[in-house]
Amino acid sequence: MGYISEDRRKVTTQRLREMKLRGEKISMLTSYDYTMASIVDGAGIDVILVGDSASNVMAGNQTTLPITLDQMIYHAKSVVRGVERALVVVDMPFGTYQISDIEAVTNAIKIMKVSHADALKLEGGAEILPSIRKIIDAGIPVMGHLGLTPQSINKFGTYAVRAKEEAEAQKLISDAHLLEEAGCFSLVLEKIPAALAERVAKEVSIPVIGIGAGGGVDGQVLVVADMLGMNNGFSPRFLRRYADLHQEITSAVGRYIEDVKSCDFPNEKEQY
Ligand code: KIV
Repeated sequence: MGYISEDRRKVTTQRLREMKLRGEKISMLTSYDYTMASIVDGAGIDVILVGDSASNVMAGNQTTLPITLDQMIYHAKSVVRGVERALVVVDMPFGTYQISDIEAVTNAIKIMKVSHADALKLEGGAEILPSIRKIIDAGIPVMGHLGLTPQSINKFGTYAVRAKEEAEAQKLISDAHLLEEAGCFSLVLEKIPAALAERVAKEVSIPVIGIGAGGGVDGQVLVVADMLGMNNGFSPRFLRRYADLHQEITSAVGRYIEDVKSCDFPNEKEQY
């Protein structure tokens, strides 16, 4: 059995800050639906991200770009209904915060009003600072996201490690400070060199959560379907699998089919 938190108090952005101060690592996983969110929350996770990776995991798209505001709100509402303790953070989808700060805050308020989530996550640094400031001014906690930002995949052209070159590393450090100064409560760093991520985590006072960013940060996040082994075609170096659900589910479905075909299911006790 793994770690089940005894402390069932609701996780807040303030409590994440306290965890960083006392050196307690923050655990974060994605969820997109009620059932998974209630299991993940019950197991004691600190933060649940309603990631726009729902576009890949739930809808089968190649990228995160197609998912819409209303689809994200649907996933967020389902997750919030299943969560008692974890802080629920929702990704603002591509196209909902880049056009203007007014459009960004309008969309941010819609997500918060309808889903009842606790916070939002936006990808990018200096370029989207006016939107981030406006959303925080409206009283909505914002988590930043730097490094590999999948909504910009068409600009990057690859999902390879980011910020290996000095100029990009310097921009990332500067962006991290800007996000902290703007009032972000936390920051995700995706797929960057571990030494750079550790440096950022030391320089900023807000909790830094890594994915493919090494162990020198304040917490870790993974896509739940990946860490449960539901998607056996995806195996980047940073992914640790804690189950092989692809195999488990395939085997269970296979046995069910066999039982139906052989008239073993349902038996006398399984009928009225
Ligand atoms: O959408 C997502 O799942 C994410 C994580 C990979 C951080 O943004």
